[in-house]
Amino acid sequence: MDMERINSNYSDEIQESVKNVLGTANYILGSEVSRFEQEFASYCGVKHGVGVGNGLEAIELMLRASGLGPGDEVLVPAHTFFATWLAVLNTGAVPVAVDVDLNSGSISISDAAHSVTQKTRAILVVHLYGNPADMESINHFADRHRLLVFEDAAQAHGASLNGRKVGSWGAAASFSFYPTKNLGALGDGGCVTTDSDDLNDHVRELRNYGSPRKYEHTRLGKNSRLDEVQAAILRKKLQRLDSENAMRRELAERYSERLAGIEEIEITKPLPGTEAVWHIFPIRVHRRGELQEALNSDGIGTLVHYPIPCHLQEAVSHLGYRPGQFPSAEAWAKQELSLPIYPNLDVTEVDYVCDRIKRWCRSKARR
Ligand SMILES: Cc1ncc(COP(=O)(O)O)c(C=O)c1O
Repeated sequence: MDMERINSNYSDEIQESVKNVLGTANYILGSEVSRFEQEFASYCGVKHGVGVGNGLEAIELMLRASGLGPGDEVLVPAHTFFATWLAVLNTGAVPVAVDVDLNSGSISISDAAHSVTQKTRAILVVHLYGNPADMESINHFADRHRLLVFEDAAQAHGASLNGRKVGSWGAAASFSFYPTKNLGALGDGGCVTTDSDDLNDHVRELRNYGSPRKYEHTRLGKNSRLDEVQAAILRKKLQRLDSENAMRRELAERYSERLAGIEEIEITKPLPGTEAVWHIFPIRVHRRGELQEALNSDGIGTLVHYPIPCHLQEAVSHLGYRPGQFPSAEAWAKQELSLPIYPNLDVTEVDYVCDRIKRWCRSKARR
């Protein structure tokens, strides 16, 4: 991913934003943050947005504000970025692994049904790779089991399902503005979106030392605030998010067309009715390491998201999971390869990547 190519498109706007904030001499929780919160909430189709320090803390604070903590269990996909799990652990609750659907990489509802216990309070869904999970079915499942629904939308700004944006489907949702995200700052940042007035107030207090009013502390909060400079930059970038997501969609369609029908390669197909935003273009391939090396020697950078499934991470060995328990998550971890995708990547570059993949497949078939 060429971050310089991405941000050079915004060079003038970024400089103007920083200059404006400098002029206000108000660097923390000023008007840029509150305007961004309103604009991002309205973009997602919800009442409130609360700017926080990063995506990890956005998850942690929305869960804590909803009353989750020690003694509670939260259903989480086994295949996601580890922050999803870490945030649950940081609240004192226990993440309970659920396998993912092999085709979409999203949490499997049939598997989730087997993991519900007396202690289960919530399901934390991840719109992995910018591909919306099946929120209608998840909400029905959650209603049946009386669970709260939360969305980790760190990779899916602007994605939608049946015309409704991610970030608006559950009790609350979390976003990350890490620089490489579809909506990325020039540093860390995050946001919680919700329709609930209570949750909004509660997260606002938690992000600011548990303080509803200056020097009055009613909760054990943190310092986790989106800062003015990042908010000012994000406001500019939000204006072009839809057009940049459209460019990603075009590139993803090109990849899907060009790689269709190749036996060695599995492509992710978003659910009908969804508009994915392709934060990442994942393929699944056996002998991933060999393909990655071949592409690398042709000057094509690829990454693996993510090589170790969460339930097998050393940090959670105390939870007692073993290899083989979540076969689809483990297959993703073994086989996933992320091909280059970002706005302004040229379609000829996508064609080049596809040609090189096909060449590698042909050379494997001959052996
Ligand atoms: C799915 C997911 N959840 C949470 C996070 C955490 O966000 P941040 O890096 O802003 O803490 C990320 C970021 O990489 C992510 O991809």
